[in-house]
Amino acid sequence: MDQRVRRASVLRGEVVLPGDKSISHRAVILNSVAEGKAKVENFSPGADCWSTVSCLRELGIEIAEESPGRLTVSGVGTAGLQEPRDVLDAGNSATTLRILSGLLAAQPFLSIVTGDESLRSRPMARLIHPLRLMGAEIWGRGDDSLAPLAIKGIQLRGIKYHLPVASAQLKSAILIAALFAQGETVVEEPAPSRDHTERLLRAMGAKLESDGPKITLAPKSTPLLPLDLNIPGDISSAAFWLVAGAIHPNAKIQVMNTGINPTRMGIIEVLLDMGAKLQIERERIEGGEPVADLTVESSELVGRQIGGSIIPRLIDEIPLIAVAGCVARGTTVIRDAAELRVKETDRISATVKELSRLGADIGELPDGMIIRGGRTLKGAECYSYYDHRLALTLGIAALIAKGETVIHDAEVVAMSYPTFWQDLERLSCQSNLAKGGKDSHQSISALGK
Ligand code: S3P
Repeated sequence: MDQRVRRASVLRGEVVLPGDKSISHRAVILNSVAEGKAKVENFSPGADCWSTVSCLRELGIEIAEESPGRLTVSGVGTAGLQEPRDVLDAGNSATTLRILSGLLAAQPFLSIVTGDESLRSRPMARLIHPLRLMGAEIWGRGDDSLAPLAIKGIQLRGIKYHLPVASAQLKSAILIAALFAQGETVVEEPAPSRDHTERLLRAMGAKLESDGPKITLAPKSTPLLPLDLNIPGDISSAAFWLVAGAIHPNAKIQVMNTGINPTRMGIIEVLLDMGAKLQIERERIEGGEPVADLTVESSELVGRQIGGSIIPRLIDEIPLIAVAGCVARGTTVIRDAAELRVKETDRISATVKELSRLGADIGELPDGMIIRGGRTLKGAECYSYYDHRLALTLGIAALIAKGETVIHDAEVVAMSYPTFWQDLERLSCQSNLAKGGKDSHQSISALGK
């Protein structure tokens, strides 16, 4: 599907976010191996999380959708998963494939896990290596570097492992495998990555301790307790509106019920540092995660240098930070982000190419980007590379670009944020209605399927 987006003259309104994608995956996976039923509310509507649900159903787990976003997961305990009758399909979701592989490595049956073309090109040696150290029998295509993966479950042993990259998917795969291993497991991270797995495991009764970068997990002596939870709004989806509000000259947007876990807060820290008028209000704890309501207004941004240990805490928001950099005064430099090259697409090269089409002054670095700000973007024809974060980023850039932008393969936003185009239309149209001005018109429409 192609999506047309015209420059918005005003952006105003309130956004209710989809449930956090990372927490949604983990909530259903961990509750599946808990003993008893759990209610999960505000489950992400994104296709990625539904790939996880369908894999778990193939493993014999009953997951009922009582109403949109309200799931009941009937956990089968630690020995209740069943051998899948077919290949498990993780779709576009690396989180599904990697975290589930950790679980499957410890089950007494054979599993084969695959995904779409993009996922089958993403690195898996980083997953296979530590799981093999735990004794796992796991193989991959391309000399054990790519999916599909074949996994013959076996009794695992605990390991001490220093992650070569700050990846929450790897960390989580190892921790979940470790639940079933003999002996304790210690995982050390080079920099803090999202800690949702650790929070959930603790809340479900696992013996998990964190000491700086080191996480120690004892194998479970009692089954995990089922955990009812209300999933916070996804900060990675909120980020699109936070940047839109900050870079648009006539904007005020409220983003409700946003997860503000410190390991995900990098985008807020960077925006504040760039000078964004961003308020964090009504901070509270929900489902073991910090949550707040956010308000952002038109701001005068300044370019910044972004790199080092903040990168894993804003890894998915980097293409969007490049858009903020286009508008900011001065130069924005993003370094230490080579991981972006192995996401759904090479997000460094794709961001540079597509924002250049819109007139950005942006260059590629081996591990990041350099963006000279103060540019007026112009509408153009651009491509999502079938990467949801790219399509979403281009949608935000289009709101400030002169004229009209056409985004090809725009339906891919459904991986994480299915109602994005409607929210974008509403935030612009509401203001059009309020103003009623002819030149405040903003249009967005599907050109065809
Ligand atoms: C995720 C971890 C990150 C992130 C991805 C979601 C997770 O990937 O980019 O969107 O839920 O664990 P890596 O673990 O590869 O850094």
